[in-house]
Amino acid sequence: MNPNKIHRFIFYCPDRFEPIMASPLMSLVHDDDRYQKSFQLFLERSSEHQCMKDFIHNKLPHILASIGDGKSHLNVIEVGSGAGDIDLEMLSELHKKHPEVTIDNEVVEPSSQQLHHYQVLVSQKPELNYTKFTWNKMTASEFEENWKQKKMTKKADFVHMIQMLYYVKDLGATISFFQSLLDKNGKLIITLVSDKGGWGKLCQKYRNQLCSTGISYCVTTRDIRCFLDSKGVSYQSFDLPSHMDITECFTEGDEKGELLLDFLTEVLDFSKTASPELKAGVLELLRHPDCSSRSEDRVVFIYNLEAIVIDEPT
Ligand SMILES: C[S@@+](CC[C@H](N)C(=O)[O-])C[C@H]1O[C@@H](n2cnc3c(N)ncnc32)[C@H](O)[C@@H]1O
Repeated sequence: MNPNKIHRFIFYCPDRFEPIMASPLMSLVHDDDRYQKSFQLFLERSSEHQCMKDFIHNKLPHILASIGDGKSHLNVIEVGSGAGDIDLEMLSELHKKHPEVTIDNEVVEPSSQQLHHYQVLVSQKPELNYTKFTWNKMTASEFEENWKQKKMTKKADFVHMIQMLYYVKDLGATISFFQSLLDKNGKLIITLVSDKGGWGKLCQKYRNQLCSTGISYCVTTRDIRCFLDSKGVSYQSFDLPSHMDITECFTEGDEKGELLLDFLTEVLDFSKTASPELKAGVLELLRHPDCSSRSEDRVVFIYNLEAIVIDEPT
C-alpha cells in the first residue's frame, strides 16, 4: 500500500474536509477471524449490549408504535447483524408492539461465521414463527447493488444499522439508500459511537494515523448528524452511555489486551504494527482521566453510543 496516497473519504462536517493520508496500517475488518475474536472480547469487557438492551426495552417500543400504518405484514432490514442477539431483541419488541403481524426479515451480514451463529440462534427459537428470514451474506453496498439490479420495489417498515457504518466507504450514500427504502411511517435506526465520549476523543486525535483505506472507521454520530442536517432530514437522538474494562491493554504482550486494542483502534495487530510513538500516544490517551476512570486496580474506558432515529423516506 502506498502510504502517501490521499484518502478519498467523504466527510460531511465542515471542519473535516482536510485530505487524509492513507495509513499504512491494515484494518482489522479485513481479517474476519481476528475481528470476530476481538469483537467478542469487547462485548465481554463492555456494557455495550446491556446499554443497547436498555434502549430496546425502554425507548424502542415507543419508536415502533407508529410503524406499519395498520398493515398485516411488516418488512424489516437489518444491516451488519453480527450474531443476531441484538437484532432478535429488537424483533421481539416489534412483535410485542404488533402481535398480529407477520414479518419479512432481510438480514445483511458479510461474515459467514456471524451469519451462521445467527442462523443457529434462530433455529433454537421456534417462537419466531411469525418471521420469515432471508439471509444475505453480503455487505451493505452489495445488498444495494443487488436490490437495484433486481429492480426491487418492496418498501421497508423498519431498517436498522447497529454499530456497522464504520465499515462502509460512503456513509451518506449508504444512509440515503436505506432511507429511500422506507415506507410511510417507516423508521431507520443507526447507532454508532458518539463524538462525546472517550472513543470520540480517540478518533478526533488519531484519525489520520488510524484510518485505513476503503472504510470510514473514524466516523462518529457527529458525522451522521452533519450529513442529515446538510440534507434537511429531521431525526431524534438518544445518548447511550457505555463503558469497557481496558486494564489488560496496559500489560505489554497480553494477548487479550492486544485484541482489545485492535478493536479500539480497528487496526489489525495494532501493538505489533503501529509505530512506538503512535502506540504510546494511544495508550496515554486511553488512560487519560478525560477518557477513563480508575476503579480499584481496573482502568475503565468511558464512551457513549448514540442512537439516531430517522422517520422520513427520502
Ligand atoms: C461491531 S459489529 C456489530 C454487530 C451487531 N450489530 C451488534 O451490535 O452486536 C459490526 C458488524 O458489521 C459487519 N460488517 C462489516 N462490514 C460490513 C459492511 N460493509 N456491510 C454490512 N455489514 C458489515 C461485521 O461483520 C459485523 O458483524
